[in-house]
Amino acid sequence: MLHTGEKQVSGGGSIRGIGIGLRSQHYREILENLPSVPWFEVLTDNYLGEGGQPLVYLERVRAEYPVTFHGVGMSLGSCEPLNLDYLGKVKAFAQRIQPAWISDHLCWSASGGHYSHDLLPLPYTKEAIRHMATRIAQAQDVLGCRLVVENVSSYVSFADSEMSEWEFLVAVVEQADCDILLDINNIYVSACNHGFDAEHYLNAIPKQRDRAMHLAGYEDQGTHLLDTHGLPVHEPVWRLYEKALRRLDQVPTLIEWDTDIPPFHCLLQEADKARYMFEKTSGLPA
Ligand SMILES: [Fe+2]
Repeated sequence: MLHTGEKQVSGGGSIRGIGIGLRSQHYREILENLPSVPWFEVLTDNYLGEGGQPLVYLERVRAEYPVTFHGVGMSLGSCEPLNLDYLGKVKAFAQRIQPAWISDHLCWSASGGHYSHDLLPLPYTKEAIRHMATRIAQAQDVLGCRLVVENVSSYVSFADSEMSEWEFLVAVVEQADCDILLDINNIYVSACNHGFDAEHYLNAIPKQRDRAMHLAGYEDQGTHLLDTHGLPVHEPVWRLYEKALRRLDQVPTLIEWDTDIPPFHCLLQEADKARYMFEKTSGLPA
């Protein structure tokens, strides 16, 4: 973990209520209008190059708002050694920006030096739990902070799986001693694609591990649901979110939109809906 005198990598700012994913299309509007958004989620991998204009904008946003980091590059489930070069870059970036937390996914995306753009699921076995938990613990040690891991949506399952996805997720985070970023849309997409009950998933999540939630839009492809993050949150996902708020603590929630990025006011409208659910289920302002 952190060595004496080393700069802290996370814990910067208080994260509460409904945040929005920070996208380059909205930098100027955010900085000019300083909208009433309690926090922004930053896509870590977009800022790991050398300097550049995006980093200048991000530092200006960070001067006004707390942020969290969300990455896709740790490939925590891969079989090859952790990419220490990548983790070093994430750590240096975090020391500079001071996010409230750093998250990545419960998946693998690299093998034999090749990186996939997909976040691929693992077989849900005891062996994979040990493997994943060991690598998360190693990554936490390198970064010097607790990690938050997100459940991914999936389109295939493994004949070798010995348990449900939620049993796997809970066992991994308990063994690794990390937290969960619960993506409600991903639960719904996977529940439809694999035919399980999304509420069983919610009921298995330990409250004390649930650090945050994600909301996003999927696309109905006829044969399956595809997690595109390019549409408003669908009605069944709002209903599941309401159940999650009642079942779990009212943790910070993010509106996540990655493709066909709409004008910023559309994201504010989605955040308003989430805030309404927050208040409806808690009786307290978000
Ligand atoms: Fe997500």
